[in-house]
Amino acid sequence: MQPALGFGLGLRPVHYTAILESAPAVDWFEVITENYLVGGGRPLYFLDAIRARYPIVMHGVSLSIGSTAALDEDYLRRVRDLAARCAPEWISDHLCWTGTDGRNLHDLLPLPYTPEAVAHVAPRIEHVQERLGRPLVLENVSSYVSYTSSAMSEWEFLAALARRTGCRLLLDVNNVYVSSRNHGFEATEFIDGVPLEAVQQLHLAGHQDHGTHCIDTHDAPVRDEVWDLYAHTVRRFGPVSTLLERDDQIPPLTELVAELEHARAVARDARAEAA
Ligand SMILES: [Fe+2]
Repeated sequence: MQPALGFGLGLRPVHYTAILESAPAVDWFEVITENYLVGGGRPLYFLDAIRARYPIVMHGVSLSIGSTAALDEDYLRRVRDLAARCAPEWISDHLCWTGTDGRNLHDLLPLPYTPEAVAHVAPRIEHVQERLGRPLVLENVSSYVSYTSSAMSEWEFLAALARRTGCRLLLDVNNVYVSSRNHGFEATEFIDGVPLEAVQQLHLAGHQDHGTHCIDTHDAPVRDEVWDLYAHTVRRFGPVSTLLERDDQIPPLTELVAELEHARAVARDARAEAA
């Protein structure tokens, strides 16, 4: 298992200059893979400059590992080439499907949690791992629908794939909370059901609570309920690399660095409590 990187931020273009000028107290950055699958120009210039100062993790959104469509070999080759350039600590994407039959739905859609889906997705994960020459790290998505055919819980599904393929897991604590509210399960049961040794990284983000349901918007600070679940997660998993995501209403870098400081404090208190 890779060592824990500490506390990181999702790299967003509006912060490129501020990062280089202020060298913020951020342990690592997570970059959206697709933003850098280009021949050159501004994104790669800043990626190289930031990579020279901080560890980087690549986080993709379009692998569509759960789809029935064939895996995109050209995409995999470009991801591998980008990894050769920026030497990421690891490469992650989402355990979902984003379309089929040549249509991209531009959404991260959940899978049915069945043995058949495990049998379908596992060889695809193995293929990607072989192409990239490293374990793939897969994130649990937030979801708003479920399948009547599901025969196991989402965490049992994640555990089955990790066991079978050796893939690793990016546990998005906010997604666990959002899905728990939308589907009516205990968020702590999810966290406690994920195999300890498979978790590579955690995500934290904000969502909107509409009372009857929650929407994973990444447009606001992490909510108190998710900080509580994060503390529970750290008590169980210890010092796992933690990443704060913000994709909309992006505030100045200093604000996100302060929120990351809060994550450090929550994790410190949780570990002291667990000890
Ligand atoms: Fe996430």
